[in-house]
Amino acid sequence: MSTAILSALPEEQSSLVQHLAQPQRLMHAGRAFWRGELHGRPVVLALSGIGKVAAATTATALIERFNVARIVFTGVAGGVGDGVHRGDVVVAQDYVQHDMDASPLFPRWELPGYARTRLACDPVLTALLLEAARACVAGGSGQFGLKSAAGQARHRVHHGLVASGDRFVSAAAESQQLRAALQGAGHDVLAVEMEGAAVAQVCHDYGVPFAAVRTISDRADDTAHGDFALFVQTVASRYAEHMVQTLLRML
Ligand code: ADE
Repeated sequence: MSTAILSALPEEQSSLVQHLAQPQRLMHAGRAFWRGELHGRPVVLALSGIGKVAAATTATALIERFNVARIVFTGVAGGVGDGVHRGDVVVAQDYVQHDMDASPLFPRWELPGYARTRLACDPVLTALLLEAARACVAGGSGQFGLKSAAGQARHRVHHGLVASGDRFVSAAAESQQLRAALQGAGHDVLAVEMEGAAVAQVCHDYGVPFAAVRTISDRADDTAHGDFALFVQTVASRYAEHMVQTLLRML
C-alpha cells in the first residue's frame, strides 16, 4: 500500500513530482493525483487545496479511491507560539480547529459528535517524521540560505499543537487573541494553518495514520503575506522535499 504525500502548495509538490519514478497522473474529484515510486517507495502525491473543506475532500479521495496506508502532510504555517520563528519547523502532535464554535450547544472548539477538541496525529508515524525533520533542519539551514533570527543560534524543530481554520491570519492582534483564547482553555498552540485539522479528522474517521509537518513562513502578524511566495519557493519546498525523502527511507 502507498504512502500519500499531501502538499499544501504546488511549489512544494513540483520537486516531488519531478523525482517520481513511473509517474501516472490520474484525475479524480476535479483533482490531479500522481501515482508512482519515490525513493523506492510506492506513493500517491496530491495537493490538499486551500482550506479545510478542500483538504478533507482530497484526504477522503486518497483513502477511498487510492487506498493509501498513511497520509503525510507537508506545508507552511504561521508561528504563534513563543520562540516559533520563521524558518523553524513544526511537527504536529495534535490538531484543533480554531474556528470551530458550536457553543452554547457544545463547549467552544469541541468537535460536535467527537466529544473532544483535539485530534492526535499517529504517534509512530509522527515520531519518524520528527526524526526526519530534525535531521533535515540540523543539516539544512545554511544549505537553504535561511538566516536565523537575531540571537537565535539555529532554526529549531518544535513538536506540539497546531491550529487550523479557514482564515489566513495576517494581523498580530488576531493571532494574539487566537492564541490567548485557546491557551486560556489549556490549548497551547504553536502554529496556525488552514488544512491540517481537517485531514486529521478524516484520517481519524477512517483509522488511517496521519502525520504533518509545517515550515514556519511567517508570524501570523501584519507582515505575514510579505514574501510568502518567495519563502515557499526557496525554503519551504526544499525542506519538504528533504523531509519527505528522509521519511520515506525510514518506512
Ligand atoms: N499558512 C502560512 N501562514 C499562515 C497564516 N499566517 N495563517 C494561516 N495559514 C497560514
